[in-house]
Amino acid sequence: MEKKSVSAFFEEFLVRESLFIDRSVLLSSFIPENILHRDKEVNQILNILAPALKHEKPSNLFVYGNTGTGKTLTIKHITDNMAKIATERKIPLKIIYANCKLKRMADTEYRLLAQLASFFGRSIPATGLPTDEVYKIFYDSVEKESSTILLVLDEIDQLIKKTGDNILYNLTRINEDIKKSQIAILGISNNTTFMENVDSRVKSSLSEEDVFFSPYNALEMKDILKERASRAFKENIIETGVIEKCAAYAAREHGDARKAIELLRVAAEIAERARHKTISLAHIDEAEDKLEKEKIFDVVKTQPKQFQAVLLSIISIKSSNPYAYSGEIYDFYKRLCFKIGLRPLTQRRVSDIIREFELMGILNTKTISKGRYGRTRDISLSVSSSAIPLTKKILEDELSLS
Ligand SMILES: Nc1ncnc2c1ncn2[C@@H]1O[C@H](COP(=O)(O)OP(=O)(O)O)[C@@H](O)[C@H]1O
Ligand SMILES: [Mg+2]
Repeated sequence: MEKKSVSAFFEEFLVRESLFIDRSVLLSSFIPENILHRDKEVNQILNILAPALKHEKPSNLFVYGNTGTGKTLTIKHITDNMAKIATERKIPLKIIYANCKLKRMADTEYRLLAQLASFFGRSIPATGLPTDEVYKIFYDSVEKESSTILLVLDEIDQLIKKTGDNILYNLTRINEDIKKSQIAILGISNNTTFMENVDSRVKSSLSEEDVFFSPYNALEMKDILKERASRAFKENIIETGVIEKCAAYAAREHGDARKAIELLRVAAEIAERARHKTISLAHIDEAEDKLEKEKIFDVVKTQPKQFQAVLLSIISIKSSNPYAYSGEIYDFYKRLCFKIGLRPLTQRRVSDIIREFELMGILNTKTISKGRYGRTRDISLSVSSSAIPLTKKILEDELSLS
């Protein structure tokens, strides 16, 4: 591109009218001051946690619900307020928030304890001490606080997935070993079924109380979006039906408000780049397509090699055949494994992998009757066809085929 046109672009960009008043309102880092449609849940939680302000140990609380249903937002809002009151009135209450999804936070039992101890100003070397010792330092630091401690473990399902439930067992028993402090645990989970697989003792002590965050329906989502949009955009730039369309999309996506807000932001950016003065339904469609693609690319990239090989086999067969049957896929997959030096799994295991992709929403399987030859499964991609070439390219790169 000529130098002149680059500067011309910037000249035009600078005078171009933005659709936004404040784009940051639509970023995930933004914390709204009003929480809509969660009065019931907020009230329940307030009642459960309030005793902490009177030196009583609140019940352990388990908060769960799908991603984007406002759990983190709600808990932070409540605990921030509690911490403020405690400081003002010199109430011995300490609130600790840990997001277990973060690697450095909760990769191992050791690491989480070290992190928790660091919140009390104790430093534990990154590795090396026996676990017993780490527990002892942590218990000790808790005891020294002489406070009621509310330990918020967000995305606690990730912790269990990585470290097992031993640590939770120990944490829920800690009050038996300390005298001057007391700990209440507030676990938050995006996975609504994870408790089913947790040790029953941990389960009963962790969920002395539980609060479920149901997915937002389309109407609730609409209110959340409207409020956000009114702060993010200038007036009259959203065409009729746009908010409703975003809300409906997110309601389909398990009531995830994060998705709804993201969709609106991406649509606005598309409109702005195209120099449109309003956000239209077509921009929402385009944004949806873009997000879908990004989702699949992310998923595909992070799969284990075996999964990638299975997916590539299916895509390759589909590119030249109307149907992809399980037997054919397996043959192709075995040849592919041979080519890239991967040890092939059994056909049964490959079927499991296909089923997992189905759960992720990437594949679709349909049983087809082949008359007297019995039945077979046709497997297809439930990904928009425009995303397939790049998906294939990513897989080939990942498997070092290109
Ligand atoms: N009731 C609500 N009112 C306003 N914004 C909300 C509400 N619920 C969720 N959000 C917004 O949706 C996004 C996801 O919320 P979050 O609390 O992180 O969900 P979760 O922790 O359940 O996954 C955040 O940007 C948050 O601000
Ligand atoms: Mg959360």
